[in-house]
Amino acid sequence: MFLVFNDPQAVSQYVSQRLIELIKDRPHAILGLATGSTMEPVYQRFCCDAKEQALDVSKLISFNLDEYIGLSAEHPQSYHYFMNEHLFNHLNFAKQKTFVPDGKPEDVEAHCRQYSQKIVDCGGIDLQLLGIGSNGHIGFNEPGTPFDSRTHVVELSEQTRIDNGRFFDSMDEVPSRAVTIGLQDIMDAHKVFLIATGDNKAQVMLDLYESEVDERMPASVLKKHHNTLFIVDKKAAALLPAAACQYID
Ligand code: GLP
Repeated sequence: MFLVFNDPQAVSQYVSQRLIELIKDRPHAILGLATGSTMEPVYQRFCCDAKEQALDVSKLISFNLDEYIGLSAEHPQSYHYFMNEHLFNHLNFAKQKTFVPDGKPEDVEAHCRQYSQKIVDCGGIDLQLLGIGSNGHIGFNEPGTPFDSRTHVVELSEQTRIDNGRFFDSMDEVPSRAVTIGLQDIMDAHKVFLIATGDNKAQVMLDLYESEVDERMPASVLKKHHNTLFIVDKKAAALLPAAACQYID
């Protein structure tokens, strides 16, 4: 079932409220965080609401999904930079507890192992936020990624590089590899919100709806996760049958 809201603002308001409830209930919650343009209004709304309510986020731990290999945290197109700009710098996050995969690790394989292990050691993710790529990727888990994968290095598909190329000055600058947490790491989260907004997500929402649980459609693994909400706006839901949608006014 897809929860369908009017527009990205209504989606953001809903997600922000759910986040605030969780944090008030569990100040030490472990959040799984995502990047991408879908998340921008969500974080903006959350920062606004959190400030208004003087919410203390200093006890939270967060793990980001992914990072481009070759980009440092200071690179404006790195996901680390994105998180600082759109979320971490605006509230009293304890930076030493906001984990983002390192885009320039000395030993990338060791870094991957340690990243998944750290999530487990902290007690597991309470709420995982996800966007979705036009080919159904979540994090940077491209089609064909095994469902039992942990944090690993990926070769980005041409489609993903083209989609994400809009943030770079030229296609040459778009990294070809990334580190991403795996599909099993995502499935281990207690609760998952997959968020999609806009016309350009309508086709992938239909593909996801129609897909069996199949590694060719990475997001389809979430159909096996019993605490996942698919949160979309009307544009992203445009091709879905009404019976699959619960409209929220
Ligand atoms: C990137 C990220 C994904 C994100 C996707 C969609 O590839 N690795 O985590 O979900 O882009 O991004 P957008 O929200 O900009 O459409």
